[in-house]
Amino acid sequence: MSEGISSIWERLSARPRRSLAELFADEGRVAVLSDRLELPGGGGILFDWSKTHLDDGLIGLFDELADAAGFADMRARLFAGEVVNPSENRAAEHTALRGVGDPASVEEAQALLARMGMLVGAIHEGAMGDVKHLIHVGIGGSALGPALAVDALAREMPLVDVHVVSNIDGCALEEAFAACDPQTTILAVASKTFTTIETMTNAISVLEWMTQHGVADPSGRVVALTAYPEKAVEWGVDETRILPFPESVGGRYSLWSSIGFPIAMAVGMDEFLEMLDGAAAMDRHFAETDGAANLPLRAAFADLYYSRIRGCQTRACFAYDERLRLLPSYLQQLEMESNGKSVTADGKPVSGPTAPITWGGVGTDAQHAVFQLLHQGTNLVPVDFIASIAAGDVLDPAHHRILLMNCFAQGAALMAGRASSDPARSYPGDRPSATILCDDFDAATVGALIAFHEHRTFANAVLMGINPFDQFGVELGKEIAKQIEAGGAKFDASTTALLQAAGLG
Ligand code: F6P
Repeated sequence: MSEGISSIWERLSARPRRSLAELFADEGRVAVLSDRLELPGGGGILFDWSKTHLDDGLIGLFDELADAAGFADMRARLFAGEVVNPSENRAAEHTALRGVGDPASVEEAQALLARMGMLVGAIHEGAMGDVKHLIHVGIGGSALGPALAVDALAREMPLVDVHVVSNIDGCALEEAFAACDPQTTILAVASKTFTTIETMTNAISVLEWMTQHGVADPSGRVVALTAYPEKAVEWGVDETRILPFPESVGGRYSLWSSIGFPIAMAVGMDEFLEMLDGAAAMDRHFAETDGAANLPLRAAFADLYYSRIRGCQTRACFAYDERLRLLPSYLQQLEMESNGKSVTADGKPVSGPTAPITWGGVGTDAQHAVFQLLHQGTNLVPVDFIASIAAGDVLDPAHHRILLMNCFAQGAALMAGRASSDPARSYPGDRPSATILCDDFDAATVGALIAFHEHRTFANAVLMGINPFDQFGVELGKEIAKQIEAGGAKFDASTTALLQAAGLG
């Protein structure tokens, strides 16, 4: 870490800690720290960071940090399709799929999406017979994004009933089988590498299930979504049903590519493209806005303040809406796989904590389970609340009114606290939260929300000097599992005993 950067961190630590109550003596901070982003299609999102401890002094220092860390240059490199993942010598071109990036990459991405659109349209029109169900097998980035988007956008009368199956535990696949008719089911095999053992094993089991139920040509009912089409050909998928995506799109950033096939199958290609347009609006904002007016960068300032200066080991995200109930799981991979690192991009030990543990849930359920700790526990947890002004249901409007009132009440309570002569009934308050309030959770909004978190994760990484685009930490466990499978390897006494107890050793 350069001397300049370490001195900025020292100055950040030395700043006097002003409470939220003190900061709110200036009510003008709401206007300064809450901004609305307009989206294509007429909707918008309000990002309210006023209930965090950011103030002018902190923002000034974080601006200096961003300059010293070369944020503007790294951001330009990201959008230019230059190498931003040095350990794998790769670009990270997920934004090109949204039409924002290096023109050649955008052109390639658009051609691939057009190909996907043609296949999706053809299947909807009957090219693969009567298709009512889609079993999408994939894991990690090849499952979490599609599962989130399908769950958020395809609640009412999906064009095709989608089941995203990730776990190798056969119970997961059995649940999908129970809900699908093999004669009207197609299989999407989603794997960037087309080698992941869970996905390939699940794919074979789906084909066996089809065979056992008399489907004449199961392999004719497979669509492959991958960055390595040659592997899908080897595996037996017809080239006309292989939807490639560029190698420069990382797994956890891939729902915008052909990995989003189940989304388009459920809601139609047009709505899928609306999701990409919403993400592009966030891309343009992130690419073109400087300093703390840049929403993902501002969020990263607050994230780093809490993790590095206040020592928060976790951050929580609560979606006050069933439609976004899968968002916390999605964010866990995005943030922890990207930024859970101990070395900088040039291989040196990091100078402070990196990604906090991301966790969360759905409001109001979480209020009746984990919020006790948020209000009175000894851990300080910065919280994000995410809600929609428009309801996703058509029941009595009381449902949505109560949902939203509770969401806002929690942020207010965390901040204000309440003194009591009884210590057990006393709330310390001064606990930070941010609120993301959407007009509705339509496709453009879901796209913009996800892109916001991608860029927030990137901004955090740049300010910490780490590479968010590799994930070598996931490899060792996979290798040991292979050694176990191969047999003959020697392990520690505990692992040996466990293997023997399970009849595996
Ligand atoms: O093991 C982690 C990981 O490599 C993730 O980064 C990725 O999203 C997931 O596995 C699935 O990989 P693939 O799409 O290649 O099957």
